[in-house]
Parts: sequence; structure tokens; C-alpha cells
Amino acid sequence: MRARPFRRLAAPLTFAALAALCAPAQADTYQTVKVAAGKMLFDATCHRCHSVEADKKSYGPLLDGVVGRRAGTFEGYPYSDALKGAGFVWTPGALKAWMEANDEFVPGTKMRHVGITDPTVQEFIVAYLESLLAK
Ligand code: HEC
Repeated sequence: MRARPFRRLAAPLTFAALAALCAPAQADTYQTVKVAAGKMLFDATCHRCHSVEADKKSYGPLLDGVVGRRAGTFEGYPYSDALKGAGFVWTPGALKAWMEANDEFVPGTKMRHVGITDPTVQEFIVAYLESLLAK
């Protein structure tokens, strides 16, 4: 009889404990999925102009390390005057605005309009670009 209250609580407690144990793992998994999806989207929409490997020349500037970098400052890249003089730092928010309408965000840029308006796609690509910093 005395075990009863415990038994009634056992299932919810076990569930709560398992949920607590799994929460960090789930967050990690979600992050991994976001980065993997972001890489696929990046490869499909950005990679033909942008490299993420320092030793590869590409039409656009290297994007490894772009998060937190001042706009228009990757050494040796011939930026447009517009981006060279922009003066801001690439935050996730700035990257999203750029993907959405780069020619409005920095009028006079020479990057062709890509027009990625889906916030999820923007977020995944940013997650991928952020993950490059961790290497
Ligand atoms: C058709 C080629 C092309 C495509 C596609 C392209 N870019 Fe660009 N990108 C460029 C060029 C060229 C520049 C340099 C712009 C300038 O100097 O005004 C640039 C600049 C940038 C910059 C500024 C980097 C810096 O050092 O300040 C970012 C960020 C960027 N692109 C992100 C992206 C992302 C993300 C995608 C995919 C969603 C993408 N680009 C797709 C050609 C492209």
C-alpha cells in the first residue's frame, strides 16, 4: 500500500528524468541537422561563386570566417566600392538581410541578387556559416 504514491509518480518522474537527459542531445542533434541542411543549401545557391576553403580562388570572397568579419575586408579580394566602404560587421541578422535582398542592403554591390526570403533557409545557411568558425 505504501508503495502506491511512488508508483503513481514513477512514470512521470522517469519520463521527466529521461527528458532532462535527452534535452542536450536533442539540441545537439537539431544543431547538427541545421548545419547539414545549411551546407546543402549553401552548396546549391552560393558555392558556385563562393569558396569556404582558403586555398581556393573563387569569383566571390571567401566565406569561411565571414560571421563576425567586417564587410568588404577579406584581404586581396577586389570588392566593389560599395561593400569596401560599408563599415559594418557580418552578424547573423546582417547575413539574413543580405541573402534576402543584397542589392538593397548594400546598394551598388556587385553580387547578383540571390533573393532568399524563406527565414528557415536563411537560418540554416547562417548556421552552416557559423559552424565554419568552429573548425
Ligand atoms: C553569382 C555569384 C554569387 C552568388 C550565387 C552568391 N554570391 Fe555572395 N558575393 C558575390 C560577389 C561577386 C561578392 C562581392 C560583392 C561586392 O564586392 O560588392 C559577394 C559577396 C558576399 C558577401 C560579403 C562578404 C564580405 O567579405 O564582405 C557575403 C556575406 C556573401 N556574398 C554571401 C553569399 C551567400 C550566403 C550566398 C548564397 C545564398 C551568395 N553570397 C551567393 C557573388 C555571389
